[in-house]
Amino acid sequence: MIPKAVRQRAASLREQIREHNYLYYVLDNPEITDAEYDALFKELAGIERQYPELVTADSPTQRVGEAVTDGFRPVVHGQPMLSLSNVFDADDLADFDRRVRERLGVDVVTYVGEPKLDGLAVNILYEGGLLKQAATRGDGTVGEDVTANVRTVRGCPLRLRGSDVPARLEVRGEIYITKAGLAALNARQLAAQGRPFANPRNAAAGSLRQLNPAVTAQRPLSLFCYAAGDFVGGRMPQTQADLLVFLKEIGLPVNPERRVVQGVEGCLAYYADLERRRDGLGYDIDGVVYKVNSLRDQARLGAVSRSPRWAVAHKFPPEEMPTRVEAIEVQVGRTGALTPVAVLKPVAVGGVVVSHATLHNAFELARRDIRVGDMVHVRRAGDVIPEITDVRLNERPSWAVPFVFPDHCPVCGSPVVRAEGGMITRCAGGLFCPAQRKQTVRHFASRRALDIEGVGEKLVDQLVDTGLVRTVADLYHLSVEQLQKLERMGLRSAQKLVEAISRSRRTTLPKLLYGLGIPEVGEATAQVLARHFQTLDALMAADEETLMTVPDIGPVAAHAIRTFFTESHNHKVIAALKAAGLEIAPMAAIVPSPVAGKVIVLTGSLRGLTRAQAQAALRARGAKVTESVSAHTDYVVAGDDPGSKIERARTLGIPVVTEAQLQEWLSAPS
Ligand code: IVH
Repeated sequence: MIPKAVRQRAASLREQIREHNYLYYVLDNPEITDAEYDALFKELAGIERQYPELVTADSPTQRVGEAVTDGFRPVVHGQPMLSLSNVFDADDLADFDRRVRERLGVDVVTYVGEPKLDGLAVNILYEGGLLKQAATRGDGTVGEDVTANVRTVRGCPLRLRGSDVPARLEVRGEIYITKAGLAALNARQLAAQGRPFANPRNAAAGSLRQLNPAVTAQRPLSLFCYAAGDFVGGRMPQTQADLLVFLKEIGLPVNPERRVVQGVEGCLAYYADLERRRDGLGYDIDGVVYKVNSLRDQARLGAVSRSPRWAVAHKFPPEEMPTRVEAIEVQVGRTGALTPVAVLKPVAVGGVVVSHATLHNAFELARRDIRVGDMVHVRRAGDVIPEITDVRLNERPSWAVPFVFPDHCPVCGSPVVRAEGGMITRCAGGLFCPAQRKQTVRHFASRRALDIEGVGEKLVDQLVDTGLVRTVADLYHLSVEQLQKLERMGLRSAQKLVEAISRSRRTTLPKLLYGLGIPEVGEATAQVLARHFQTLDALMAADEETLMTVPDIGPVAAHAIRTFFTESHNHKVIAALKAAGLEIAPMAAIVPSPVAGKVIVLTGSLRGLTRAQAQAALRARGAKVTESVSAHTDYVVAGDDPGSKIERARTLGIPVVTEAQLQEWLSAPS
């Protein structure tokens, strides 16, 4: 016997969860937090675990069922699923509208405009308000049974709402994946060494065709409904607009971007508006659909072959087109990163002619094995850099060979190094490479490097663009006369600049090392290297093995540093810097302080410095200053009128020292 209260609680939880699903997925207006929702869900699942007899097929906990083993069963649709014919421009649309007006004998037709989603069409059958079956479109008459997978789509209700639900209802809609959903899914695929999906359509279709619904349940699928097939027992709305409102009322998600419009003009305005806002929508659309609003008129117009006479799709310029890879070039960015780029046979994509697509990096290029001569699909969405989404391996010419990534910079000829986990290839000729000039000079002059006041982004652009500066060493040969000729540069500013540059000649080794922009060498590494090698010449002479003996320097950094300093172009620039009078302050000889790592207790009053000063000075030298004497204490420093700490130190046999000893420690180099 199940207690009545438990039975009621389970029913109430199901009702609440259903209502919150509706608020979230259909009205886009959630009233509780995810955590609150999860709590309701957990409670219901807990009750159902304890009393399995309470589980109902439409319980929100029952979305993920058993895997199918023998493929998807064929399903005959109650009403055929039609497909849409296309119009490509305003003239086509005017022809379509004229035919509709003539057949109906009217002057102006009212249409509903809807976004055309790029996903997978499904037919979902509800009987008595319960989800009974879901099928793909198939050939329009017979589709495939994907019920188990559609049940996992959270926005798809397992039970319809309200009392006004038809006894039998076929709902047509599109299963799709949002842009954010696709990005998250692809990140997951890549992390699991899987192949990313080329576009949202493939992702939606691939997810729905999983034999195991548990896999589909992990995919962020969404649903918008836009039509009805069989509609038995219930009041059928009179118009497409009302049908959509009705579907929404009984719990089905419909697209909020739908609009009622008048005639061709209204359709075109709708098209233009949506095309303009296309990139801002959370999901991909490939056009709009215009449907005659009156359902009676739709019935009068009927269909020819597989397409209705009452609806038409108006596609946006395609965002993906086939073309051929004519060459693969390697570009060098401002930071020295080498990026492979496919040179394409120019093709119009999304209203823009595309002739290049990024291939990301050497690793990605090798993984995808894109070759010169390949037929590919190029995709351009919004402002995004065009990408290759698909390679047609069966159309690969026999002469196509794998691309060999250059081991020298195509701009300056310096060797390249792999960095950041092997994904990024960088030119090692940082000080010399023309592609990196601006970046290098800007970095060299920056505050934490050589700290040349007044050398900002705009000035560097001017200096490099006019050819006055080709390497950082050229900075030290700039004259007031040369600088004065630059735009917006007065005599006074030119003089100040020359002074600031001149002042920067006196620098330190860590600042210089950081300023050189060696790959893998940030400020902290520059410090470590400077302390270890003391001079630039010693560092430049170090081989990889020696470099790797330095704390914090691993094989990647050692290789990058070595490559940088063996690159003859960099050598020349460093020689030029020295010739320009660079003065590197000698590094103080590093002797570890005698108190480094020691545990010290202070007692009594000190004469030469306060207790706080003594603590700070000791800590700066690596000592640990504690309050009470214990077996871990190394020394007790006794000032005037020491307290009982002295006794304790003596009992424990810990050395007690005077203030003079303390002063001696502090005067040793740190
Ligand atoms: S109505 C008789 N409305 O486009 C009309 N279809 O070629 C049946 N589609 O298979 C479809 N968004 O996958 C309709 N708002 C929308 C649509 C839409 C996308 C797809 C659907 C269908 C294809 C028609």
